[in-house]
Amino acid sequence: MAVSERTAAAVENGSFIRKMFERGNELRKKYGDDAVFDFSLGNPDAPPPAVFEEKIIECVRESGANKYGYMSNAGYPQTRAVIAGRVSKEQQTRLTADDTVMTCGAGGALNVVLKTVLNPGDEVLAVAPCFMEYRFYTENHGGVFKTVPAAADFGLDVDALEAAVSPKTAALIINSPNNPTGRIYSDESLKRLGEMLLRKRKDTGRTVYLISDEPYRRIVYGGRTVPSLFDKYPHSVVVNSFSKELSIPGERLGYIALNPAAEDAERMRAGFVLCNRILGFVNAPSLMQKVIARLPEDCEVDISVYDRRRQTLCKALSEIGYEYAEPEGAFYLFVKAPSGDDAADCERLARYNVLTVPGRGFAYPGWFRVSYCVADKVIAGSIPAFKQAFADCQGGKS
Ligand SMILES: Cc1ncc(COP(=O)(O)O)c(C=O)c1O
Repeated sequence: MAVSERTAAAVENGSFIRKMFERGNELRKKYGDDAVFDFSLGNPDAPPPAVFEEKIIECVRESGANKYGYMSNAGYPQTRAVIAGRVSKEQQTRLTADDTVMTCGAGGALNVVLKTVLNPGDEVLAVAPCFMEYRFYTENHGGVFKTVPAAADFGLDVDALEAAVSPKTAALIINSPNNPTGRIYSDESLKRLGEMLLRKRKDTGRTVYLISDEPYRRIVYGGRTVPSLFDKYPHSVVVNSFSKELSIPGERLGYIALNPAAEDAERMRAGFVLCNRILGFVNAPSLMQKVIARLPEDCEVDISVYDRRRQTLCKALSEIGYEYAEPEGAFYLFVKAPSGDDAADCERLARYNVLTVPGRGFAYPGWFRVSYCVADKVIAGSIPAFKQAFADCQGGKS
């Protein structure tokens, strides 16, 4: 067999998100676009800010030798300086360009960080529900992935995390605002998390690297903000991307920002740069790096579009009787499966051409995810189906 057993198994199990997306394509072929209500993917649909495209044109029109050439594996110094300024404000800690590395999206950044910190058999913890690519990214680099359930309100359960940290734990990944719950972890809980990790470091003699995956940091509602982390735990690193905040996931631009106070910071930086290269990314896309360096600091998509959809969906689903976690950020609604069986409830919805993702695809069965980065008409058109599926479930119809 040419395909490795591990890859064959991964292909077989696939991702629930991708499976639902494929199912959507089949249904669209059969019933037409307007009859399918696809809430499966987190593909941002708010248009990128106009200035983003203006800056692309500006960069393309400029002449210069090696305009699209290789650069230092860490990225253009000017772009890294812009990122350092941005993260310094978010993290209440002064970073320099040297603390940052430009990457191919947050996904690329996570792979680079994990490759840098993992020895074979080391464990990586994440808070469930979570983005399940973390498992693949961990296994890519010989690590063992484990999830620890969030608290009942989907905030951090620091006691449960404390119980899970062992001498084998190399890293903990947190994601706030969270995909799929939309929860923002509170300042207080991050403080407790930092204290716990420092305590554990004393007990086990091993430093757990805290990786904060923040692609939704700027997609927050009701005037909320995402608290800083670097001032709460030194051995920390932020990974982020422009995929969601500028609606450019296909352009693959992200970054790593290292807490300058982290243990072994000098060697970590060198590790990130090397791993960015030897994973085959070499460097992040050059044109996008140039564009990002020229954008105004507060440049992001108009998130009022997502906020409106969030409110419409929450109101409609709660009127029907569904329970859900009130999203504080990102563009996902995590809904409690009315029958308790997330796969059965998603299947019931799919029979009415409504596509959602079962919570087991986020290591959290019993719930399902509805992604609301979709047109208003998709939300409006889906409500009768959500109603019918709920009634079927109450009536015991499978
Ligand atoms: C929580 C989370 N982390 C990372 C990513 C990957 O983002 P990128 O497109 O920047 O690689 C996603 C994408 O959906 C995500 O939801």
